[in-house]
Amino acid sequence: MCWVGNAMTRRFVSSKLRRPQIIHSLPTLARTLVRWRARRERIGLVPTMGALHDGHLALVKRAQRRADRVIVSIFVNPTQFAPTEDLKTYPRTFDADIAALARVGADLVWAPSAETMYPQGFATRVVPEGPATVGLEDAFRPHFFAGVATVVAKLFVQCDADIAAFGEKDYQQLKVVTQMVRDLDLKTRIVAVPTVRERDGLALSSRNAYLSAAERATAPTLHRVLLACADKIAAGHAIPGALAGGRAALTEAGFAVDYLDARNADTLAPVQSAKEGPLRLLVAARLGKTRLIDNIAV
Ligand code: PAJ
Repeated sequence: MCWVGNAMTRRFVSSKLRRPQIIHSLPTLARTLVRWRARRERIGLVPTMGALHDGHLALVKRAQRRADRVIVSIFVNPTQFAPTEDLKTYPRTFDADIAALARVGADLVWAPSAETMYPQGFATRVVPEGPATVGLEDAFRPHFFAGVATVVAKLFVQCDADIAAFGEKDYQQLKVVTQMVRDLDLKTRIVAVPTVRERDGLALSSRNAYLSAAERATAPTLHRVLLACADKIAAGHAIPGALAGGRAALTEAGFAVDYLDARNADTLAPVQSAKEGPLRLLVAARLGKTRLIDNIAV
């Protein structure tokens, strides 16, 4: 163990030698936070549901640039899954997650049980509006954003986070969390991190593990169609026509399209023309049993 040097050297040395501290109980977490605060260390948080990939690790690295200590929470949050969704089968790879976090030098893994997060008698929810009710993910997963907002608010408080990193991959979620921080005067600052992709353009996602070999070969079409639509709109084509073409191309490739839409990048409000920009294209589509989402700027 090496405690000499500044935060960067300590992280470098410890990443070679030390797994992150793993904490499951709130009192233990609170004791560690008191120690860090006594040294005036800034705390960064990366909320995750585990099954970590390079997208999550990019968030950790970004948080390390903005904070002295980085906590990664791993909690498969039951309240954001509908009864018909994949809570039971969601990939759980805790040991591999810890090994990956040791490689990047994360300081602490906060891994509460469902009972710790939602003890008997739990009765309060954060129900977001604004970007949470614009008819994108919310139209297909009606309970999703209340589940996300509630758990994220709790994680911010539990971890006393100065900053928290979120991926643009889940663009509507990023907007919902940003709005929640503003509306509830939370002190945690949100840091947005661009989507990390495979070489063929497929956005990294824990759910990509569900794809069969044939579906995996088709999956990058999602990103290719987004790029093609963005090019057309940027070149002056009418938005409805460009999107209709994109939906048809996805259906042709074997996707069942939930939505492919152009929105104002800040508010997520629907747009009729590129003049109402900056624009963001957002898509959700199912390939077999796997639901994939993606988005890009125009
Ligand atoms: P999860 O899907 O594990 O994602 C955790 C974080 O990683 C989110 O901020 C997500 O946007 C980011 N992320 C996922 N794939 C990414 C990629 N390819 N590139 C960049 N960032 C990526 O999102 C959740 O968990 C949950 O809803 C959570 C916020 C933890 C609340 O339960």
